[in-house]
Amino acid sequence: MYHWLRHGLFRLEPEKAHDLAMASLDVGARFNLLKTLYPPPQDCPVDCMGLRFKNPVGLAAGLDKDGDHIDALGSLGFGFIEVGTVTPKPQPGNDRPRMFRLASHGALINRMGFNNQGVDHLVENLKKRRYTGIVGTNVGKQKDTPIDQAASDYAICIEKVFDHCDYITINISSPNTKNLRALQDQGHLAELLSELVGVRNSLAEKHQTQRPMLIKIAPDWEEAALIQALETIGASGIDGLIATNTTLDRQAVKDHPLAHETGGLSGRPVTQASNHVLAMARQILGPEFPLVGVGGIASGADAAKKHQLGADLVQIYTGLIYEGPKLIKECVTAWPETR
Ligand SMILES: Cc1cc2nc3c(=O)[nH]c(=O)nc-3n(C[C@H](O)[C@H](O)[C@H](O)COP(=O)(O)O)c2cc1C
Repeated sequence: MYHWLRHGLFRLEPEKAHDLAMASLDVGARFNLLKTLYPPPQDCPVDCMGLRFKNPVGLAAGLDKDGDHIDALGSLGFGFIEVGTVTPKPQPGNDRPRMFRLASHGALINRMGFNNQGVDHLVENLKKRRYTGIVGTNVGKQKDTPIDQAASDYAICIEKVFDHCDYITINISSPNTKNLRALQDQGHLAELLSELVGVRNSLAEKHQTQRPMLIKIAPDWEEAALIQALETIGASGIDGLIATNTTLDRQAVKDHPLAHETGGLSGRPVTQASNHVLAMARQILGPEFPLVGVGGIASGADAAKKHQLGADLVQIYTGLIYEGPKLIKECVTAWPETR
């Protein structure tokens, strides 16, 4: 079924195809068609960060930036959904075109630039949702906020979403907001995390409830800097790590005519680098630290590999575009019982 749908969607400009797919999903969910077309996978519960996930396969951030489609996406069988990246105020993102398909590589390049309708709009959608599974909110900084004031943008978003979702992700790894990745540098990381862990703690006190906070990092590192960043993350008091965002590296697609497009590369070509960061994270952060593996999952075997490297949970984005919703069930089915 998705094979035929994809044929039609891939004739459209990628962002138009995305909008049409989301609108169709909403209709499918409203008339209860999705559960018939894609019967949800068997429960495969995972307990992580004090939360119970129905299964370990989640939707990665960026597909539903504003939380406009939570119920529809939820009915595809995901174990959890991450919405965002959201910023304090609405912003349009970069000029179009800003998303490109590299179909021969099962890949996308995007330079969306945190296009979103602002955190207040997202909060309204979080309040309205009927989906009862786990929902995380991924937060970022406004395009024009200087890097040394970034913490206050994150804090504004954390405070607003705290009482309306199950976990929060700090995104410091999008390549499409100028200088954002500088927050991963030794100079900024410890300070940013210490400030945001403080915000999390005081909100937990105020609301009398815990809300796990994760950090999402890039796949592009010098080895020594990666080790240093992971050590900083381990010592910070943050609750978990998402590895990884998209890559700036073009080696794996260098012969493709769209390889020169500016932005983050996702899908199959990011697998190796993402898996390396994941494996290093498990090694440095120890056996108990919650890890979410994301980057290049296009089959059940890819998800199982991330589990073997140390992931407690996984997320998918580009694989969903190429393989369709059946990928969710495939990944859940392939998930080994123990690491
Ligand atoms: C079009 C597009 C938009 C994305 N937007 C975001 C975003 O807003 N925030 C974020 O943390 N990651 C974003 N990502 C990164 C994904 O969440 C994921 O980390 C990355 O694509 C690797 O996974 P994949 O190979 O399964 O796509 C985006 C990815 C794509 C393809």
